[in-house]
Amino acid sequence: MTTKLVISGLALLVGTGYGAAALAQQKPEVLVKQRQSAMTLVGKYWGPIAGMPSGKAPYNAETVTRNAGYLEVLSKMPWDGFADSTKDVKSAALPAVFTDTAKFKEAGDRMQSTIAQLAKVSKGGDEASVKAAIADVGKTCAGCHDNFRQKQ
Ligand code: HEC
Repeated sequence: MTTKLVISGLALLVGTGYGAAALAQQKPEVLVKQRQSAMTLVGKYWGPIAGMPSGKAPYNAETVTRNAGYLEVLSKMPWDGFADSTKDVKSAALPAVFTDTAKFKEAGDRMQSTIAQLAKVSKGGDEASVKAAIADVGKTCAGCHDNFRQKQ
């Protein structure tokens, strides 16, 4: 490939972002591993704050702000990994992920918007509002897992 071709190829990649063209070349097994890794990290930063609204974990504003910031970025990552090409790869994703795509996307959007809200409120918000925002995020995890993930 000439340099010019490589450059225009790169420009195309940048232009389409994580669009279908770039994803089509990803191995399905790799996409599954990546989406699971993103979810694993979501679990890592969600865990310490999940129990704060109920008092199971002591409230710590600093932890919430830090973790919510991480979660805001992580919550954008799993979704392009649920590409159609992955539907036959063994994973905990139920077939509904690939058939009921509108509902799945809506559940993912809800998670992202409640996390974005939490990240906002966690910067200087009072304890009650932050706890309410954490609880709102929590509902979205189960809300999706109940319909789209194999029972553990
Ligand atoms: C829109 C749907 C959806 C939402 C919202 C969602 N998840 Fe998931 N999650 C899934 C699916 C589907 C899987 C199984 C993925 C697979 O096996 O490929 C999964 C897997 C996981 C895993 C296991 C990862 C692994 O493979 O080891 C963890 C941990 C997890 N989710 C945590 C969370 C937490 C915490 C939240 C909320 C903050 C959340 N998820 C929100 C759909 C969702």
